[in-house]
Amino acid sequence: MTSIVVLNNKGGVGKTTSVVNIAGALAQKNKKTLLVDLDPAASASVHLGLDKNTGDFKTLCDFILEGADDVHPFIRETAFKHLHCLPSEPALSDFYDEMVHEQEDRFFFERGHLPERYDYILFDSPPNMGSLAFNALALADYVLIPVQTQFLALNGLQLTLKTVDKVRRHLNPDLKILGIFGTQYDRRTRVARDVLEHLRQQHGKLMMKTVIGVNSKLTEAYNAQKPIVFKTPAARGAREYAALTQEIQSRIKKDKRT
Ligand SMILES: Nc1ncnc2c1ncn2[C@@H]1O[C@H](COP(=O)(O)OP(=O)(O)OP(=O)(O)O)[C@@H](O)[C@H]1O
Ligand SMILES: [Mg+2]
Repeated sequence: MTSIVVLNNKGGVGKTTSVVNIAGALAQKNKKTLLVDLDPAASASVHLGLDKNTGDFKTLCDFILEGADDVHPFIRETAFKHLHCLPSEPALSDFYDEMVHEQEDRFFFERGHLPERYDYILFDSPPNMGSLAFNALALADYVLIPVQTQFLALNGLQLTLKTVDKVRRHLNPDLKILGIFGTQYDRRTRVARDVLEHLRQQHGKLMMKTVIGVNSKLTEAYNAQKPIVFKTPAARGAREYAALTQEIQSRIKKDKRT
């Protein structure tokens, strides 16, 4: 089992779009995949068809509130084979505040909570780091960082790298950066080309070769509550996320060999 936190302290950079579509691509390759939604906004859960406004199911919030030892009863199957989700809900936000202010050092997940029967466990994180996100970073094998190819994105990346550094020093020395990749790339704009070039110069091998372009089919797939590889497999966005997923798998394989 390999665990990956998709992380960027900046909002709206494509964390949720990426985590759902990578999870979809892995499941399509028959990899048993669990997506854990750490964001009270619950966008990843909704993207996978798990919307608390229209469905009655337990969430990560219930797992924490009940102080359960076993995470399995809180995991939901999705409409997609091999793809399961530990969903979130807005109520998690009260809890986030409570944890940050009153129980800062209390972690709810332990390594033993992560079900070994999955090939991959992916975490979607909220833009503002709360203790749940730190908790996931403390247990995870890898961090994957999407960066919007826009001017101010580089500040968000610096902040994210600092967070990873802090986690390595205090919580999880084995945490590795799996890669950084550009998202919402519009090759027609100068700024996007410059930001990508800058990222490649600064971060060299950490940069993934695949870049995710702007593609409205990704938003359409979100609205349809499906990963794009299932909604419109021929779309450019689907092909790019499939290529990114292939790169992720190759990097992990290579890393585990060394
Ligand atoms: N490659 C893309 N092309 C077009 N639209 C995109 C692309 N990636 C993401 N979007 C859109 O941009 C918006 C923000 O994306 P997303 O929700 O994935 O970001 P996020 O980092 O998870 O945001 P938050 O920090 O709020 O959780 C969404 O409306 C999404 O549909
Ligand atoms: Mg999100």
